[in-house]
Amino acid sequence: PLPEPFQVPLPIPPVKRPVRSDAKTDYYRVVQRKASLEILPGLKTEVLGYDGLLPGPTFDVRSGRTSVVEQVNQLDVPTVVHLHGGHTPASSDGWPLDLLMPDGQHHDHAGHHGMTGGDVKTGSRSYTFPNTQRAATLWYHDHRMDYTAPQVYRGLFGLHLIRDAEEDALPLPAGDREVPLVLADRSFNEDGSFRYPALKDGPGVESRYMEGVIGDVQLVNGAPWPVLEVDAARYRFRILNAANARRYELALDGPARFVQIGSDGGLLGAPVEHETLVVAPAERFDVVVDFSQYTVGTQVTLTNKLGTGRATQVMRFVVARKAVDDSNVPAKLSSYAALPEPAGLVRRKWRFRRGQAGEHRGWTINGKPFDPEVMQATVKLDQYELWSFVTDVHHPVHVHLAPFQVLRRGGGPPGPYDAGWKDTVDVRPAEVVDVLVRFTTHKGKYLIHCHNLEHEDMAMMAAFATV
Ligand code: C2O
Ligand code: CU
Repeated sequence: PLPEPFQVPLPIPPVKRPVRSDAKTDYYRVVQRKASLEILPGLKTEVLGYDGLLPGPTFDVRSGRTSVVEQVNQLDVPTVVHLHGGHTPASSDGWPLDLLMPDGQHHDHAGHHGMTGGDVKTGSRSYTFPNTQRAATLWYHDHRMDYTAPQVYRGLFGLHLIRDAEEDALPLPAGDREVPLVLADRSFNEDGSFRYPALKDGPGVESRYMEGVIGDVQLVNGAPWPVLEVDAARYRFRILNAANARRYELALDGPARFVQIGSDGGLLGAPVEHETLVVAPAERFDVVVDFSQYTVGTQVTLTNKLGTGRATQVMRFVVARKAVDDSNVPAKLSSYAALPEPAGLVRRKWRFRRGQAGEHRGWTINGKPFDPEVMQATVKLDQYELWSFVTDVHHPVHVHLAPFQVLRRGGGPPGPYDAGWKDTVDVRPAEVVDVLVRFTTHKGKYLIHCHNLEHEDMAMMAAFATV
């Protein structure tokens, strides 16, 4: 039986502390290990966690300060770490074949149907994240070739926040009133273990999950349908959809609205008010909610209008007390500006379609399942390009290395959730979304892929080179 909702308090993932720091760099050490956590009351769930946590610890860093993260693999599977939204050199970007093998396991045993050519390390590897980008809500997660979906499902994901002076200068809610909300759905077996419908003989999922794995338990920060007591005041919520495949349309009971202040790539130029918030996998929405509109004692449920049954509920806020609130959402948030569409752009089309091949290679980009040996595009650094994403069904499209701005959706203006710098865009069925993108600084091999993680593992990914 599923647990009663709104019984457990909302956990806040701990902030990761560096082991040492020097003038420009903070050094961290993360141990990827199994842990037995009480996610459902009275049951134990074995997770694969960064530091044994689900979600992993939150990195909270300054723009311009480099993070060097030593990742230690004490699991029994190879892993790959990717900083989603990071402006990261290719060697640290989590190329899916740059495996980190568990200590004592030789990489011959990786078992990847002959796919080799990655930079394989054993035991530990250091990732360098320069954080040379504006304040934003990023996240990190596993990116192992063919097995990203089950490994993220089992716990390998966490937040990576970047802060800067432009954001610090704003009177936004802060401290206890700045709260991450990492959404993820999961299913469980009777004994408390995760139920993931993986195929026994390789990557991918049972064919009825071809559209992606949807769970019947809603987790926020790793707890099922949690409750958060709030002051009658403004709160800043950093919302991340870390689910493998579920889309949300979030709504709040009562009068409160979501005042969006930021998206994947940081602050908007000006706030945008939403009655409901559509969040596709991997998207982030930075919002302010004002609970002073409720009387003390009110229960405010966060719901998902796209869910059915128990999945219509996400979590609950209880307005516990009156409080002083000197926060504010200024009309101008940042120097963000929408780019004009320059003439003579290089144009590229990326078609996201179901493929002909079976379950392991069932989704394609431009007609091809992922091949790490093939660069589907070669892109010059520092030039704007116009990329068009074309779909058959829903695909949340993600581009590594550089953020983009949405120019057009379905031939018309950008949609209500497309504002700001994005790195993931929710492309709806049979739609075309045009974006303006420019890659800078780092030469190498990067990825574009669908962030429905089952689609990604079923080969809906393509490599491009920056030169
Ligand atoms: Cu969030 Cu290529 O990934
Ligand atoms: Cu997809």
